[in-house]
Amino acid sequence: MKPYVFITRKLPDELVKPLMDVAEVEMWNKEEEPVPAQLLREKANRATALLTMLSDTIDESLLDASPHLKVIANLAVGFDNIDVPVATKRNIVICNTPDVLSDTTADLTFGLLMATARRLIESANYVKEGKWQGWSPYLLAGHDIHHKTIGIVGMGKIGQALAKRATGFEMEILYHNRSRNEVAEQQLNATYCSFDDLLTKSDYVVCLTPLTNETKHLFNKQAFQKMKSSAIFVNASRGAVVDEEALVEALQTGDIAAAGLDVFTKEPIDVDHPLLSLSNVVALPHIGSASIETRTVMMKLCVENIIRLLQNQDPKTIVNK
Ligand code: DGY
Repeated sequence: MKPYVFITRKLPDELVKPLMDVAEVEMWNKEEEPVPAQLLREKANRATALLTMLSDTIDESLLDASPHLKVIANLAVGFDNIDVPVATKRNIVICNTPDVLSDTTADLTFGLLMATARRLIESANYVKEGKWQGWSPYLLAGHDIHHKTIGIVGMGKIGQALAKRATGFEMEILYHNRSRNEVAEQQLNATYCSFDDLLTKSDYVVCLTPLTNETKHLFNKQAFQKMKSSAIFVNASRGAVVDEEALVEALQTGDIAAAGLDVFTKEPIDVDHPLLSLSNVVALPHIGSASIETRTVMMKLCVENIIRLLQNQDPKTIVNK
């Protein structure tokens, strides 16, 4: 009997095809809507492998109810949606999609920084809404990016790719990370500093650190108060690294100038969330790695990892070695 694999979102058939040759594959039939939690539980109960999205919660109770599960391939580099320690205890292999999305996510992060600094979304809407009456010296004037200081919190592969982009803008690069990053220091001229120093010195503070127990609400009221009042905060990692109430307050009181956010504590963010009412916020729907090319490669990697594991080979990318 072929092993049963459940995929929690509708993916292109041609990408899933190789998996169908070795397994009985079932796919949730919606592209944008997540699979309901109860249905996921039922499917996981008989699955040998799951191909999951970052929006699926794979917690202890789901893992408890999944006696046959051998591998979960998560379509993301982040894996905070999965209880990895419990999975590891149960010998369930967790795979993610690192490296293949670094450049694409760095492109988006730098684009978000630029859009926020130069008020691109506000300006585009201004024209489309017929508000443009004529040229004026400070019309929708934003902040310079070139030659400013960028502080990157979380200097992994995406951080490095972002730093590379920042060098093209002749920015000074500071970073804070759990450990020193030699590539960033030697090849990109990035300077390691404490979290507090980074906050006080940076014109752009960019959050790329994964969500863990240690980083939850790392960006709190105190952190925002340490930043320059002209600082722009960008978050492309996970929403919960930020205390969103504190961020709203910092933006309203002028502790910081603006924020570019690709991620939120609750996704999708409620349309009446105070963050969305602020003109100095650029909000995106978690599209960090969302280029057609990269998402295709990510899907292929997940499929390949599952196949390898079903054939008793090592997966290409594994979180819990
Ligand atoms: C990831 O892969 O974790 C990113 O957040 C996707 O955009």
